[in-house]
Amino acid sequence: MFTVVKCRLCTICILIAVNIGFIVYLATNVDQSLDDDDDCDRWMDQSLVNGDHQESPINVEVWSKSAIGQYFWETILGGHIESKMMNDLYMEGWKTIGPVRFHFRTGPSLKPESYPSFRPANLVLILNWRSVDKINYANKWLRTLFEDLSGVPSNVGIIALGNEFCNNTWFTDLYVDNGRYRNLRFLFLVYDSPLIDNQLIYQWPLGVATYRHFPSPYTTDDDHKIDLQSSRPYVCNFIATIYQNSSRQELQNLFINNVHNWNHGCLIKTRSKWMANENVESMDSYVQALHSSDLTLCPSGLNVECYRILEAVEYGSIPVIEEIVNTNDHNQCDRIQILRLFKQFDAPFIYVRNWTEQLPDLLTQYNALNLRERVKKRIQLIKWYHHFRIRLRNHFVNVLHKRFVH
Ligand SMILES: *[C@@H]1O[C@H](CO)[C@@H](O)[C@H](O)[C@H]1NC(C)=O
Ligand SMILES: *[C@@H]1O[C@H](CO)[C@@H](O)[C@H](O)[C@H]1NC(C)=O
Ligand SMILES: *[C@@H]1O[C@H](CO)[C@@H](O)[C@H](O)[C@H]1NC(C)=O
Repeated sequence: MFTVVKCRLCTICILIAVNIGFIVYLATNVDQSLDDDDDCDRWMDQSLVNGDHQESPINVEVWSKSAIGQYFWETILGGHIESKMMNDLYMEGWKTIGPVRFHFRTGPSLKPESYPSFRPANLVLILNWRSVDKINYANKWLRTLFEDLSGVPSNVGIIALGNEFCNNTWFTDLYVDNGRYRNLRFLFLVYDSPLIDNQLIYQWPLGVATYRHFPSPYTTDDDHKIDLQSSRPYVCNFIATIYQNSSRQELQNLFINNVHNWNHGCLIKTRSKWMANENVESMDSYVQALHSSDLTLCPSGLNVECYRILEAVEYGSIPVIEEIVNTNDHNQCDRIQILRLFKQFDAPFIYVRNWTEQLPDLLTQYNALNLRERVKKRIQLIKWYHHFRIRLRNHFVNVLHKRFVH
């Protein structure tokens, strides 16, 4: 799928870096030094590596109007917010990757009305298409751009947080409507949508919940240390809002009844009401739970891909994902290739189809592992995530460059 030149040097340097220290300083030391390592950049597709580097880089504006933009910019592209104005109403950053110089802008003051004063030739828009009100707002942007009488940008790319049931028909209906989106060169879309063809439409990961200020160790400057080497007090955590008759309730009952009498040592926190705005205290205890468990149980929500998956990964906890597709009639997501992006990237996750049948054995097996074996799995996970981010970044830059420079 993705052309990757395997880089042994790089793998060795990660192994050494990870093994010497007791604590890995992800945000600063290890990660930074690896990102700057030229050898690691050979993960780039060949065309980028051998690309026309004599040419001056192309300038691309990235305007983010969705919280997934922060994950894109900081965690995947490795960019920073370098300037903030008007009490964070406007923020921007710059980064050159291979043949592309990105200028990232975000903040509430960036509005469709601001478009005419910039009119960039190359523009990537990051939008939220999750619900009707968000779609209406996204549409305002699309109309501003694509109906601009003074000329549509030469190249437009979109990164979109799709609908959880993969219902993006409003967009495709408009798209097929006679080249309405002239100069649209690509769309990166979240969730397992059947629209993804890897020609025009590609898949993008959901990422972590920046909208509720998840403290990602990959983005915060204050030294968030992830301890990969110590024994963790819990083998698993299960934190969830329980809906009646759901598989989550089945899972909760499994712990309550504990018929198998497994000495599981799991941290369990359940509630019956969902809270949209995480307060600081509950966020802290959530992060603490991820950081102090070997495994994080990820029950399926409206979609199987939930923020918790990569949030667990960032804290070195292996996600155990309930791999079932919501059977709601409106669900249009691919029911066969579930979580295909993670599978294409060989994520070292654990997939479960039935908690009652599979979890007891899984926990028994995990309990039997010694600390060394557990640490090895954590390091594998963190290494995988590092490569995932680099490969995704290079894949994105490669697609953009191929489509924008023709
Ligand atoms: C859950 O299942 C029980 C028994 O099958 C049923 O009586 C109840 O109405 C269900 N509750 C919901 C919210 O579907
Ligand atoms: C998909 O969403 C549109 C609105 O964007 C709605 O009209 C349509 O009924 C939905 N389709 C399904 C199958 O849910
Ligand atoms: C899982 O398996 C158990 C026992 O085989 C069954 O009772 C339960 O309904 C299954 N759960 C789901 C969500 O299919």
